[in-house]
Amino acid sequence: MIRISPSVLASDFSRLGDEAARMAASGAEYLHLDVMDGVFVPNISFGAPVIRAIRKCSDAFFDVHLMITDPIRYVEDFRKAGADGITFHIEAADDPAAVLDAIRALGCRAAVSVKPATPAEAVFPLLEKADMVLVMTVEPGFGGQSFMGDMCEKIRALRHECTKRGLSTDIEVDGGIDEITVADAAAAGANVFVAGSAVFRSADAKATIASLRRIAEGAYGAAL
Ligand code: DX5
Ligand code: ZN
Repeated sequence: MIRISPSVLASDFSRLGDEAARMAASGAEYLHLDVMDGVFVPNISFGAPVIRAIRKCSDAFFDVHLMITDPIRYVEDFRKAGADGITFHIEAADDPAAVLDAIRALGCRAAVSVKPATPAEAVFPLLEKADMVLVMTVEPGFGGQSFMGDMCEKIRALRHECTKRGLSTDIEVDGGIDEITVADAAAAGANVFVAGSAVFRSADAKATIASLRRIAEGAYGAAL
C-alpha cells in the first residue's frame, strides 16, 4: 500500500495545527513528525508536547521519526502524545530489538531507520520485529536536501530480504522526495514516502500529494 507522509518540518511552525489539518484535507493519510534532539543530529526541532497539541487538529496516522539518542527512554511519552507509529535510529540505540519490542508493547507500529552510511544488513536481524524500515535518503537533520540516488540499492536489498522471508514490511524513504525521485525509490521497493519541501512548497499540496501517489503506484517494484 502506497502512503504519502508529508513532513511538517517544512511547514509554517507558527500555524502547525492548521498545517496538519490542511495535509489531512489534501489526501495524506500519514503525517511525518521529525523529532531532533541536537545530539543525534545537529539540529533541534520539537518534542512530545508539540505533537500532543497537533493531535487535536488531525486524525491522520502520526508517523513519528525520532532522531534522538537513547530513544527507549522516550517512546512512551511519544505514544501518549499521539504517535501511531514510532521510528528510531539503529545508530542511536544500544539494543534496537528491545526498542522495537517496547514500541509494539505500547500498541504502536514499530520502525527502525538507517542513516546513509549504515548498510541494509544491519537491520536484517530485526526484520521480524519491525512493521517498517526507514531508509534515509539524506543525512538526517535538515529538510530541503538532495535525494541520494545510491540509496536505491539499499532499498532494493531490503525489499528482497523481506520478500524472501515472506514479510510485507513497509519500506519508507525520507529526504529529497519529489515527483522525480519518488519514481526511483518506488521502483526499488519503497512504499511509504516522506515529503517535506515538495508538498509544503507546492502551490497545490493536494495535487502534489495525488501526483506523488500516482507516480509511486506506477513505478512500484519496477526495478526489483
Ligand atoms: C530530515 C527529516 C526529513 C525532512 C525531509 O532529517 O527526517 O523528514 O523533513 O524533508 P525534505 O522532503 O524537504 O527532504
Ligand atoms: Zn524524517
